[in-house]
Amino acid sequence: MMVATSVKRWLSAAAFGALALGTASTGVMAAGGAVDLPEQEWSFEGIFGHFDRGEVQRGLQVYLNVCASCHGLQYVAYRDLGDIGYDEDQVKAIAAQYEVPAGPNQDGETHDADGYPLMRTALPSDRFVSPFPNENAAAAMNGGAVPPDLSLMYKARPNGADYIYALLTGYYDEPPEDFDLPEDFEMMAGLSFNAYFPGHQIAMAPPLYGDDVEYADGTEATIEQEARDVTAFLAWAAEPNLERRKNMGIKVILFLIVMTGLFYASKRKIWRDQH
Ligand code: HEC
Repeated sequence: MMVATSVKRWLSAAAFGALALGTASTGVMAAGGAVDLPEQEWSFEGIFGHFDRGEVQRGLQVYLNVCASCHGLQYVAYRDLGDIGYDEDQVKAIAAQYEVPAGPNQDGETHDADGYPLMRTALPSDRFVSPFPNENAAAAMNGGAVPPDLSLMYKARPNGADYIYALLTGYYDEPPEDFDLPEDFEMMAGLSFNAYFPGHQIAMAPPLYGDDVEYADGTEATIEQEARDVTAFLAWAAEPNLERRKNMGIKVILFLIVMTGLFYASKRKIWRDQH
């Protein structure tokens, strides 16, 4: 089954590649449509892919400090951070910075006398706390646009990593002069110009300016560095089992090669006896 799914992935990657080649000649940009994404190198892509711990940990810092004020990560639990190199106490400390609804107390109450929900400190078993109670609240705080949950964003967009990186580094104050926009293109109030967002107008103001975080490992926090790190973090969030999956795929292929050799040797032996 493992082999069947990876073969399917390779096939669809090949098909996508062929499609990309086929469309590449139509120019950098279809009017008002998608722009070719600059290709980046990622440690987690390719069959020997793995996550760079330092990169993913810095990405967590960027997510928590910047993105988490608008975007949730509803499928990731704090204890999953054990996978990227945090020990139990560190995970507890990260979770303890957040609060979640407490559920009914001894008297069966879920709200205090003023009508506010009772809260408790988040535990490692809790999912990442969402910034807004629901989509209406999220839209109300963001001029009508809902910041999507980022748990699966890496998988939800073609070339997810290149796309997220390009989006975060693709803001301009004004559309660049040589940018091929439709005649009737007009910037709408409250939106920002982004070279890589479909339609080029996005309701997310540029989230990164550089120095938005002070990295624990001392890395310089340029926009590009932050964008790279948070992209790696989001790839891990969407595919926490990637390393296990790829290792298993490699083992299965080695196993099949060895078995093929054995079967071939025994076939030769059996047939030799027949002559
Ligand atoms: C102030 C709120 C805010 C912050 C902070 C913020 N975003 Fe967003 N983000 C939004 C909104 C609103 C949208 C929806 C934009 C739209 O549909 O026009 C969005 C959309 C996105 C999308 C989806 C684009 C698509 O193709 O649909 C991605 C990816 C994203 N944000 C990543 C991030 C990352 C990574 C960070 C942190 C570095 C971040 N955002 C910080 C508000 C925010």
